Amino acid sequence: MNEGLENILSRNSPRELSEPIPSSEEMELVYKAALRAPDHAWQRPSRFIEITGRGLEKLSKIFKKFAEENVEDLSEEALKKYEAAPFRAPMIIALVTEIKEHPKVPEIEQMFSTAAAAENILLALNSLGYAGVWRTGKFALEDKISEYLDLSSNQKVIGYLYVGTPSGKQKKIPEMNPKDFVTKWE
Ligand SMILES: Cc1cc2nc3c(=O)[nH]c(=O)nc-3n(C[C@H](O)[C@H](O)[C@H](O)COP(=O)(O)O)c2cc1C
Repeated sequence: MNEGLENILSRNSPRELSEPIPSSEEMELVYKAALRAPDHAWQRPSRFIEITGRGLEKLSKIFKKFAEENVEDLSEEALKKYEAAPFRAPMIIALVTEIKEHPKVPEIEQMFSTAAAAENILLALNSLGYAGVWRTGKFALEDKISEYLDLSSNQKVIGYLYVGTPSGKQKKIPEMNPKDFVTKWE
């Protein structure tokens, strides 16, 4: 099997993510990979917020404020969980789609492009010996979160990639049989 396919087949979301994080030079390559995602009519809809160090504390405060102001029946325990969420990895990349009005490219296609970019990021990280976990939860796919992150209303948060070096017990990658998922018309 070639290296490209090996990289795709070995990608997984580790249970734990630790330091080190990718260097700036490595992240430059990761973002170049992200920006090779398919993009209908070259709308260039994807934006990324790279959050590390004190940025994670800032994100934690934002998640806390957002939860306090928007989550119904919020328990003390849930609030603590939301506040702690950003510290599950040493780097987070917020995935943002900047929606532009276009006669042929609806909003959902622009978000699909950012989703494809996200997978390219995960694959690029895997190829460099790092990993990411894609998460959504209460703070994504929710219009109100944009203003908490200082984004404009046409910039939608489609998810977060928690990034770092895989640590802890390695996950077993499940064996999938394509026959269970593929129908052939011949
Ligand atoms: C759009 C999207 C949103 C996700 N949101 C979450 C999430 O909020 N929490 C979570 O634990 N996993 C979430 N996942 C799943 C993980 O990223 C991961 O794919 C899953 O745990 C399977 O592990 P694997 O990637 O090793 O196969 C999400 C995946 C996708 C594609």
